[in-house]
Amino acid sequence: MRISVIGLGYLGATHAVAMAKLGHQVVGVEPDSKKLASLKAGNLPFYEPGLDEALQQELSSGRLTLVSSPGPEIAACDIHFICVGTPQLAGSDEADLTYVMAAGTELASHLRPDSVVVGKSTVPVGTAAKLRTTMSEVAGFDVRLAWNPEFLREGTALEDSLAPDRIVIGAWSQDDAKELRRVYQPLLDNGVPCLVMDVATSELVKVAANSFLATKISFINAMAEVAEASGADTVRLAEAIGMDDRIGSKFLRNGLGFGGGCLPKDIRGFMARARELGVGESIEFLRQVDQVNLRRRDRVVELAQTELGSVEHKIVLVLGISFKPDSDDLRDSPALDVAKRLAGLGAQVRVHDPEALEALEGRHPQLERADDLEAGFRNADLVILGTEWSEYKAIEPKAFGDLVANKLIIDGRNVLDVAAWQAAGWRLIALGRNVHN
Ligand code: UDX
Repeated sequence: MRISVIGLGYLGATHAVAMAKLGHQVVGVEPDSKKLASLKAGNLPFYEPGLDEALQQELSSGRLTLVSSPGPEIAACDIHFICVGTPQLAGSDEADLTYVMAAGTELASHLRPDSVVVGKSTVPVGTAAKLRTTMSEVAGFDVRLAWNPEFLREGTALEDSLAPDRIVIGAWSQDDAKELRRVYQPLLDNGVPCLVMDVATSELVKVAANSFLATKISFINAMAEVAEASGADTVRLAEAIGMDDRIGSKFLRNGLGFGGGCLPKDIRGFMARARELGVGESIEFLRQVDQVNLRRRDRVVELAQTELGSVEHKIVLVLGISFKPDSDDLRDSPALDVAKRLAGLGAQVRVHDPEALEALEGRHPQLERADDLEAGFRNADLVILGTEWSEYKAIEPKAFGDLVANKLIIDGRNVLDVAAWQAAGWRLIALGRNVHN
């Protein structure tokens, strides 16, 4: 099929490559000239394992072409995916829908009446209906619009797109759903379940899924607060409750909490939309989910202060600043937030990250960049593991002990071998665990 993908950020770039890999003829649209040039050269403007190679392959296969704005290539397409961002509006909980509405409006004047437009962006329930009205006014006919939320995770984006747990299609007509099923036919043939439902439910599925995941993480972090006060161990607790099939062990890792471009802004956007709908109370618990999550960052800042007396002029090394491993995404990163706050309190903060230092370029000059681990550990008074890259899990506890001023480490992700670090003479503090020596 001939497919266009509007917006080539994380979601759009991955989706465009995935569609080309399925054998479709894909046109990607990206108005940002710098991003477009980089993508055309086969370089992603962000880090995502395996996606660079896949992009290069699809560009050279001729199945994927890239343009800066909708034009004749777009008019020739049968299906159009809208993949632009819906960030949090500054100073509000609400999602900013400017990009979705603008992309839809621009696309509308290039549409053929038989083509189907598919929204993939995460939006507040009710957005698709508004977009359909606006697009139909611009196009001069009833635009065929469907919704198809995306559940990909950074770090495993392409795998998640090509082998998702499920495909969700929200449609106003069975014909539109059928067209969209044709797009995914190779995945359906592989046994991927496909759920067709009304559009409002499909919009809600995405925010509900992300809210549930955020709640699960904050639940275990709330247990960590109780464990810290009572002498219990959250990691053992999670292991025990996670073995109950009904609970499950995934997303029960306590630590510095969730960040990134999705979970935090999605729960806030959901609360704002629920208030508009007059059912704010129904999901007001998400406010607590948000607050528990943010309190974990406070806890690490407090621990640093308590352990060091004062952090002023102390050297603090933060290992990992991306919001999660295998990503260079700094959006709402818990580790970066802690680093900035400690610097704000007068600490000399060094940051190390296997991939994200480039993304930090030109920003947060108060943070020193450590090019390698040795430079990072040298004379440090405190080390904080902020993001659990495998490189950090593999650090030999004896390796840098002679370099530091003080063998003190806070494991913000509960991934270090406590006994081994303690045996190497380190004082190790693990969040939610009373294991410190
Ligand atoms: C999330 C959803 O998982 C995905 O389905 C959706 O499409 C986009 O948002 P992503 O933002 O890539 O994906 O990250 P995810 O793997 O969900 O992790 C989110 C955050 O939660 C990270 O900061 C991670 O470190 C944290 N986390 C995750 C925990 O603190 N504990 C856990 O047990 C799991």
